[in-house]
Amino acid sequence: MNDRMIIRGGRPLIGSIVTQGAKNAALPVMASALLLRGGRLTLKRVPDLQDIHTMADLLRHLGADITFAGGNMTIDVPDELKWDTPADLVRRMRASSLVLGPLVARCGRAVLPLPGGCAIGSRPIDFHLKGLVRMGAEIDLEQGSVHARTGGLSATRICLDFPSVGATENMLMTAALTPGESVIENAAREPEISNLSQSLRLMGATVEGDGTSTIRVVGTSRLQSATVEIIPDRIEASTYLLAGVMTRGEITVTDIVPEYLQALVCKLEEAGVPVETSGNSVSVSCKGLKWNGVTLKTLPYPGFPTDLQPQIMAALCMAEGTSVIHESVFDSRYVHVAEFKRMGGKIDIQGNTVVVTGVHKLMGTEVRASDLRAGAALILMGLAAGGETVVCGLKHVWRGYESLMEKMKSIGADIELLADDKSAV
Ligand code: UD1
Repeated sequence: MNDRMIIRGGRPLIGSIVTQGAKNAALPVMASALLLRGGRLTLKRVPDLQDIHTMADLLRHLGADITFAGGNMTIDVPDELKWDTPADLVRRMRASSLVLGPLVARCGRAVLPLPGGCAIGSRPIDFHLKGLVRMGAEIDLEQGSVHARTGGLSATRICLDFPSVGATENMLMTAALTPGESVIENAAREPEISNLSQSLRLMGATVEGDGTSTIRVVGTSRLQSATVEIIPDRIEASTYLLAGVMTRGEITVTDIVPEYLQALVCKLEEAGVPVETSGNSVSVSCKGLKWNGVTLKTLPYPGFPTDLQPQIMAALCMAEGTSVIHESVFDSRYVHVAEFKRMGGKIDIQGNTVVVTGVHKLMGTEVRASDLRAGAALILMGLAAGGETVVCGLKHVWRGYESLMEKMKSIGADIELLADDKSAV
């Protein structure tokens, strides 16, 4: 896949974008298939993304048989599964850690090399491991891998130190295959948690309270085949809305649940951007618009998503006045700032806080994506900037945005992939 793109910026983007299925919902639902003992999980509206293929390869390695075409995926899980996971797949993506709970619950053991993923700060999995230990697993760390085993898990009460999305998902899946009542306190409340809960309910577990901080799970020793629809991707939809804002265009995103975008919509309205919501679509209309700086803090859902922090920072680079962003979810998610500055962004980092002073013009240059959302934000910067921008490091972007080239072109973006040329990277 090409790693570089040229953007000729400065044109207003106008049109409508159909939202993809949510990557961060599809990944845990895929992992939950491992809980089946001889059965099939069918998923609808799965986005065709690099991370989805990585998870599919990981499940295949463990013994699953997978078909994937046109957004429909079937995962057939045999009676016998492998429980060791290969480092080359796991290190590609942090979400690989989502197979840990299902494997321990299903096979009584698992080996997981410590996972990789985006370079956005230290991302330990200690909450996942503590939860599993509380349910009766023994965990050892040997040569960079987690070795987990159990003679039998017990349903229990787990209180997370932070509402971690991944830890909540691992605990939910483990509890679903552990007979008895488990309660997860301080659980994450993201819509993706509710999609996984829905999947587990369809497979036969009782799950109540998803979407709140306390989730009650009554597990069972055997789960059944099910068909699950993946929810829309709130981060993808938000990224296109921000592209509309930054290029002073008119963008509608459809097939979305507007409630999922509330934190962004509130901030846009505060900045003076007119936003319209109707049924399952959200629109911004920004012809000739000037927007104001705002103050925001990233938080677990329903707060402002950390996965939108680079993209809104891009928009705030062109706001009237000053903005303040406080990143409270990850400890070093400002790698993109240096690249923004090279395009004319006026940004000052003070610990986990940045102060952005709006400018009227950004200028294209060659920039490099350090992670998935930083890459998306650099594309937004390029679309708004004068002249030509070359964004390198697109391999990160392909992990999360399906058909990005086609979608961007359909709303008028002048973008092109460049042939890979090692000397230019
Ligand atoms: C998920 C999302 C990711 C998003 C993040 C926060 C997926 C596949 N990825 O990642 O896109 O940016 O939620 O919304 O859904 N932490 C620990 N110990 C742990 C687990 C987490 O200290 O065991 C910390 C992390 O370092 C981070 C914070 O908790 O500072 C939140 O992380 P978490 O919610 O777990 O994020 P992920 O599930 O990895």
